[in-house]
Amino acid sequence: MTSKKRIFSGIQPTGIIHLGNYFGAIYNWIQLLKKEKDLDVFCCIVDYHALTVFQKPEVLSENIKQLAKLYIACGLDPSRVTIFRQSAVPEHTELAWLLNCITPMAELERMTQYKDKSEQHKSNINAGLFTYPVLMAADILLYDTDFVPVGEDQKQHVELARVIAKKFNNLYGETFKEPGVYVNPVSARLRALDNPEKKMSKSASSEYNYISLTDTPDIVEKKIKKAVTDSGSEIKYGEARPAISNLMTIYSLATEMSIKDIEKKFIGKGYGDFKKSLTEHLVNFLKPIQKKLSAIDDNELEAILKNGGIEARKIASKKVAEVREKIGL
Ligand code: TYM
Repeated sequence: MTSKKRIFSGIQPTGIIHLGNYFGAIYNWIQLLKKEKDLDVFCCIVDYHALTVFQKPEVLSENIKQLAKLYIACGLDPSRVTIFRQSAVPEHTELAWLLNCITPMAELERMTQYKDKSEQHKSNINAGLFTYPVLMAADILLYDTDFVPVGEDQKQHVELARVIAKKFNNLYGETFKEPGVYVNPVSARLRALDNPEKKMSKSASSEYNYISLTDTPDIVEKKIKKAVTDSGSEIKYGEARPAISNLMTIYSLATEMSIKDIEKKFIGKGYGDFKKSLTEHLVNFLKPIQKKLSAIDDNELEAILKNGGIEARKIASKKVAEVREKIGL
């Protein structure tokens, strides 16, 4: 077990990385790094997870690279954190199999994401989709992770990882650390711009659902203009006003202004003024990320990923060796 606190998290390389992924995940990794200097951080590109939905090979490999670049462009410094591809560390799938064999079907059947995704992809409800949370548990448990910073939708999966760790430890003796979950209450669940009943999502059918980290100023403007608002015209936060509250949350995250200050700023003004200002702030917020993104060299990126894989594997292979021995393999 390590003395430094360790955090592990990951994102699927499935196309559009949006503000929900940024503020629900990446932003929190960076904030935790700022707060605790002595932190070991693993930022994984969970490419095996992406395969639960069919991916065109050439698109997948591009998306993997793009996500790795985005990690760096968002401010994750490869000399400070380990950035790696899940598929570069075969121990993830090996441990997933071993954990599959102690995970009750009933636990997996309870998973809300499985229920939602099998509803969305009726023509491809594959076994991977069902056992997906076990692979996620393997990701986390391989590294003796202390905390997993994720958005609200992944909380249940981290809780399952705890259940699996406990079960393994009971059966074979203390082996896995039970991971904690870290969810930022402000950005835990950014809502879709076109439907505040739903979460902002990569797999949304309409691009008006989200703001992507790579959206150009014109697109940001178009999307914010079209974003759904509630009845009334006040810029006021509240449960009964989910659409404007979501936009205010995004405003607050992008500007670091409090909700109260935003309300004050827009007293006597309407949605038009608010949306114009939000667009300006979002464009300014995305600009440095996009600038950095375009400057990352492909060869340099390959070296970072290769190195990250080697570093991750050093830890993962030790853990799997320990597990094999405990199991009697
Ligand atoms: P994924 O790729 O769907 O999402 C990546 C991260 O973004 C968060 N997120 C959101 N947060 C706030 N508002 C939203 N609208 C929103 N949409 C997504 C997610 O909660 C997540 O933190 N199974 C995971 C990836 C994974 C993983 C892991 C995470 C695989 N292994 C181990 C942590 C640890 C997933 O599909 O995330």
